[in-house]
Amino acid sequence: MARITPLEIGKMKRRGERIPMLTAYDYLTARLIDAAGIPVILVGDSLGTTVLGYETTIPVTIDDILHHTRAVVRGTRLALIVADLPFLSYQVSPAEALRNAGRLLQEGGAQAVKLEGGQPVAEAVRRIVESGIPVMGHLGLTPQSVYQLGGHRVQGRGEAAAKRLIEDAQAIAAAGAFAIVLELIPAPLAEEITRTLRIPTIGIGAGPACDGQVQVITDLLGLDAEFHPRHARRYARLAELVNEAVGAYARDVREQAFPSPAESFGLVTSTGEEKI
Ligand code: KIV
Repeated sequence: MARITPLEIGKMKRRGERIPMLTAYDYLTARLIDAAGIPVILVGDSLGTTVLGYETTIPVTIDDILHHTRAVVRGTRLALIVADLPFLSYQVSPAEALRNAGRLLQEGGAQAVKLEGGQPVAEAVRRIVESGIPVMGHLGLTPQSVYQLGGHRVQGRGEAAAKRLIEDAQAIAAAGAFAIVLELIPAPLAEEITRTLRIPTIGIGAGPACDGQVQVITDLLGLDAEFHPRHARRYARLAELVNEAVGAYARDVREQAFPSPAESFGLVTSTGEEKI
């Protein structure tokens, strides 16, 4: 079977079918997500904070994204793989944006790219799309601008800011994006943007009216016991499970309960018997 395409994502909006999207950063997790039938997987630059231990996404490089995108592509068969363009890989010029977007497809194996921002990056979006590369936009809380925005806070709450966001969404859609992520914006504003755009909106902390939802996989699985953003729902508590499993393993090793004979290998005698 072939992978889901951006065209099909657009059709899902027109059919009124919700679009579930998740991030993934490694082969095995991507394989599980793909097998569960998630149609869109994002290799987000959130890998900087979730996997690499940075405080923000700003230190993430195009080579980091390429490395993780290759792993995710190897683990998947059906999902559309969207790779994030990291900080400063698309803002300097549309030509540079195109070159880096091209690397994510050519060297990483992604089928689409995502970039943050509104009107100032519309030209870069147009240039990439005109070269045959599908682009997903990202508006609202754009983590690569965290210092300018003054933290991870809800965007577009005032009248002027809401108007600017609507104009940004229209500019990115007009530039040819096939979908737009709306992060941390008021639900009524996301509803208005979703109603007025022909392309799908994918919300994260943007309320229930968006055409799809995206979550960071580590939030969904409860892998970080110390971080639980309001917009995320924990569908599992893996941090607790990992803690229990690792503790049990360490106890077994100390008490010489692991490995057992069944988990060990013996020499083979001349009669073919195994002796541990
Ligand atoms: O990098 C990321 O994971 C993202 C999602 C939060 C949309 O951009």
